[in-house]
This record gives sequence, C-alpha cells and structure tokens, in this order.
Amino acid sequence: MKNLPLLFCGIFFCLAFSWTGLILSSQLQLGSLRPAAIEEGELTYPRRPTGQAEQGKQEYIRLGCIYCHSQQPRMKGFGADFERGWGDRQSVPRDYIWQKRVLLGTMRTGPDLMNVGQRLTSADWHHLHLYDPQITSPGSIMTPFSYLYETRRVGEVPSADALRFPPGYAMAPAEGYEIVPTDRARLLVDYLLSLKLDYELPEAKFSQ
Ligand code: HEC
Repeated sequence: MKNLPLLFCGIFFCLAFSWTGLILSSQLQLGSLRPAAIEEGELTYPRRPTGQAEQGKQEYIRLGCIYCHSQQPRMKGFGADFERGWGDRQSVPRDYIWQKRVLLGTMRTGPDLMNVGQRLTSADWHHLHLYDPQITSPGSIMTPFSYLYETRRVGEVPSADALRFPPGYAMAPAEGYEIVPTDRARLLVDYLLSLKLDYELPEAKFSQ
C-alpha cells in the first residue's frame, strides 16, 4: 500500500469538496437571511411558530404526511399551483428561516400545504377530514387517521369539540357516544391552521 497517503488525500479532497459545495456555499448564500419588517416597528415575517404548532409539526412528521404533501408552492406561471389556489405567491428561502426541519416534501399525491391554514380555516373541517377524508372529499385517496380520535360516552353535555358528522353518515357513533380528538389530533390541526403564506416579502410579492 505505497499509495496510502494519496488515497487519504483523495478521500479528504472529495469530502472537503462536497462540504464546500453543499454546506458552505448554502450557508454563505442563505445563512444571513433575517425576518423582513413589513411595517416599521410592526410585525415581522415570517412569524415564529407557536409551541403548539411546533408540537403538531412533530406529529405531522411522525404520521408521514410529508410522503404525500409538499410545502413549496411555485410562482404563477410555473405549473398550476397558483390556479389550484395553493398560494398567492411562491415560497422563498426566507419563509423557512425559523424551521429546524424544513418539510419541503418530494411528492404531491395530495395538495401543497404551505398555505393550507389560509385556504381551510375551520378546525372542525380538518378534524372530519383527518378522521375520514371521504366525509369532506368524496373519492379521496388520503389515508384516514381515525386512530387519532377516541369514542367516548356522552357526559351530561356533549363535548364542544366532538366531531359533527353529516346526517346519514354510515359510521357515525352509536346513540349516547361521541368521537373526540385526542391531544395528538388537536396539535396536528393547530399546526395545519398555522401554515399560512399570507404576507409579502420584498423578494416575493403576491401574484395578481
Ligand atoms: C397517501 C397519501 C396521503 C397521506 C399519507 C396524507 N395525505 Fe393529505 N391528502 C392526500 C390527498 C390525495 C388529498 C386530496 C383529497 C382530499 O382532500 O382528501 C389530501 C388532502 C389533504 C388536505 C386538504 C388540502 C386541500 O387543500 O384540500 C389536508 C389538510 C391534508 N391532506 C392533510 C394531511 C395530513 C395532516 C396528513 C398526515 C397526518 C396527510 N394529509 C397525509 C393524500 C395524503
């Protein structure tokens, strides 16, 4: 093995080269991004996520939502994202600066969710949809997440957040029972409702 030093130099060079290309150059390009002040002294965007939305994000990761949903709408004129109502503008690197794990996604079996909190604002809708996507979106191929809900005997008064099924729903709970979200479902919906691209940035204005 008389070429051992050469081999090590080669390995070192390959690693250093890819580190420079992938990590250093991205850090130099994007590492200094800060929130943008929209009105002086007022709100800065993107907003910092709340604790509950952050916990809900962990559920989103655990449940594998990312395998079917992206979080990166494209600009008007690139594909049909704008026409589908997935966002009034494209997302840009600054939108993700608070995120330790960025969930861009790789497949779009379902719609892009970067702006879903602005599109679908009702927590009740999200709970019904997660419990059984067929209720809100007949023919949906999304997996039901009914195990995030529990069936309980109705107490003296029905729970405020019990699922309200449409009349005639075949799998509605029996008389005297109700289906309520678990904490996991509540956190997940808090996260979904927090996903909003409702602010402009200097480099990304709303499309007309
Ligand atoms: C097997 C692929 C698949 C998985 C996994 C999946 N979804 Fe979906 N999702 C879809 C499809 C397809 C649709 C469109 C039909 C519908 O509304 O159900 C959709 C729609 C949605 C919508 C409505 C979006 C809109 O604009 O109408 C939301 C919100 C959503 N999914 C959230 C989730 C969450 C949260 C998870 C994880 C707990 C998840 N999805 C997992 C496929 C998936």
